[in-house]
Amino acid sequence: MLSWIISVWTILAVAQCYFSEENYTEESKMQPPTVVIAIIARNAAHSLPYYLGALERLNYPKERISIWAATDHNIDNTTEILREWLTVMQTQYHYVEWRPLDKPTSYVGELGPKHWTNGRYEYVMKLKQAALNFAKKRWADYILYSDTDNILTNPDTLHLLMAENKSVIAPMLDSQSAYSNYWCGITPQGYYRRTAEYFPTKQRQRLGCYPVPMVHSTILLDLRKAGTKKVSFHPPHKDYSWPFDDIIVFAFSCRVSEVQMYLCNKVRYGYLNVPSKPHQTVEDDRINFVHLYLESLIHGPPMYVSHHVHVPPKQSDLMGFDEIYLINLRRRPDRRDRMLWSLYELEIDAKVVDAIDGAALNSSEVKILGVDLLPGYYDPFSGRTLTKGEVGCFLSHYYIWKEMVDMQLDKALIFEDDVHFQANFKRRLMRLMEEVEQVELDWDIIYLGRKKVNLEEEVAVENVRNLVYADYSYWTLSYAISLQGAQKLLNAEPISKMLPVDEFLPIMYDKHPNEDYKSHFPNRNLMAYSTHPLLVQPCHYAGDPEWVSDTETSTLWDDDNVRTDWRGSHKTLKGYQPPAGLQSATYKDEL
Ligand SMILES: *[C@@H]1O[C@H](CO)[C@@H](O)[C@H](O)[C@H]1NC(C)=O
Ligand SMILES: *[C@@H]1O[C@H](CO)[C@@H](O)[C@H](O)[C@H]1NC(C)=O
Ligand SMILES: *[C@@H]1O[C@H](CO)[C@@H](O)[C@H](O)[C@H]1NC(C)=O
Ligand SMILES: *[C@@H]1O[C@H](CO)[C@@H](O)[C@H](O)[C@H]1NC(C)=O
Repeated sequence: MLSWIISVWTILAVAQCYFSEENYTEESKMQPPTVVIAIIARNAAHSLPYYLGALERLNYPKERISIWAATDHNIDNTTEILREWLTVMQTQYHYVEWRPLDKPTSYVGELGPKHWTNGRYEYVMKLKQAALNFAKKRWADYILYSDTDNILTNPDTLHLLMAENKSVIAPMLDSQSAYSNYWCGITPQGYYRRTAEYFPTKQRQRLGCYPVPMVHSTILLDLRKAGTKKVSFHPPHKDYSWPFDDIIVFAFSCRVSEVQMYLCNKVRYGYLNVPSKPHQTVEDDRINFVHLYLESLIHGPPMYVSHHVHVPPKQSDLMGFDEIYLINLRRRPDRRDRMLWSLYELEIDAKVVDAIDGAALNSSEVKILGVDLLPGYYDPFSGRTLTKGEVGCFLSHYYIWKEMVDMQLDKALIFEDDVHFQANFKRRLMRLMEEVEQVELDWDIIYLGRKKVNLEEEVAVENVRNLVYADYSYWTLSYAISLQGAQKLLNAEPISKMLPVDEFLPIMYDKHPNEDYKSHFPNRNLMAYSTHPLLVQPCHYAGDPEWVSDTETSTLWDDDNVRTDWRGSHKTLKGYQPPAGLQSATYKDEL
């Protein structure tokens, strides 16, 4: 009887629970897995502010991250920068382990700070192993290794890699060349092997997460997986006979532990700097890194410095010119900003001049300025005459030539705002101008970027490296101009017989094929040269989805109603071959 009462009571109690009005809190969410980030830094003062800036911006709770940081063998400010950053950030991260070593500043027998001796390989292996031991001891779920010139600009990188659920995975990183942080093939001796998949992967024609024999530089290890219990960096496996190199030792260890490495290129994750050669200096490395930074501004997402470290201000100069002009349309602040950031990083001091906005000119204003079309001019590709954009562009260049003459500036450099700087731009240009000076070359303009129209090779200038006599060329992307050159161009009185500025220049150096146009300009004695290879390229090519030319999209110069379709003109696209080096690479580059 008693048990019957108890059972009824229990049933009632249970029923009451079920039908109660009370609202119960749901189970709380799982916290994200714990991660150790291993930072191993050497002579990285130039990239560290960006590297640390990217780590800070990772979209991952910092209280679930521990930092393990080691630095040694430095001749630059690496230790101070890391110390400064860790001091501020240690309150946000779960835990910080800090292992600086001030002395020695070099390895025995090394040629320079970019040279990898066996001693250095071994030391780095030991550091990586120490970080791994630390992570395992603390039961971390993951360890992320990321070299200090790998900038993870995509803040979701950690989440995205974790979601792939692999033991060892790397995000494909972009560089200034064909180099990246993976191999698609490996020889039986453990060397790089070229394969058909490498370039399609690098160029993202093939997208996904792929098993590969080697990933390095930035790798994420899932320490919860049974396989990663066995992998190690040091000491090398007892059967190891491959090259003594930390990345190859680790790849071998994964292989014998039956752990597959994966590479992911589904999205852009970030950038890595092409390693310097053994004889190169920390300064060479910095210059490469500046180029990488400029690439990140074009391809995005860009790099940002950490606000928690001191970044020394740049020392910009005029590279020996009297003035450097940047022509920019006020309504294209995006282009101005990119150019100004690029020039700042290159330490080039430029003056922004507001371009004459052709689209804002109406036909009566054009007339008041004294602009008249060259009789018979029409665009060879579209058959149309001048556009207002082309008028604005011409006037913008023209007013700079005029300022040079008014102010008697000996030489100036002009940039339009869609310039893509080639590697080592500043040093190459300065060396060129030095040689031009040494041989006392009489010059009026020197193209730094242009589209060469004809295929024939141009004649090289004697005793000046990388300079040719310019043949018929399009574009006015960037050029150096002398006072004498500016004066010649003004003397030709081009405003009253206008054609696009990039047709006017070849007329003035007498390489234009059209005799009719030339007949209007009797003194065609401009001395024009071009750098070869070119020092700048246009940022986007016509036909690219993002490409908008401000000169070719605007309305016809004397018509305020009709819009010209820039697709009608293929002047910017036709026959243009992007320079070798952007896509192709040597075996060494990939390595
Ligand atoms: C429980 O939640 C419902 C719906 O949100 C609400 O209408 C009700 O008042 C809540 N009851 C209590 C006891 O809070
Ligand atoms: C080195 O770094 C420290 C801390 O970030 C900074 O105070 C110092 O000015 C730096 N020195 C140089 C030469 O950049
Ligand atoms: C991740 O992979 C492991 C095998 O390594 C598997 O057991 C597990 O179910 C996977 N988890 C998810 C979420 O796919
Ligand atoms: C052209 O622009 C000027 C200045 O903005 C204005 O005064 C003039 O009326 C305009 N002319 C025509 C034909 O729209």
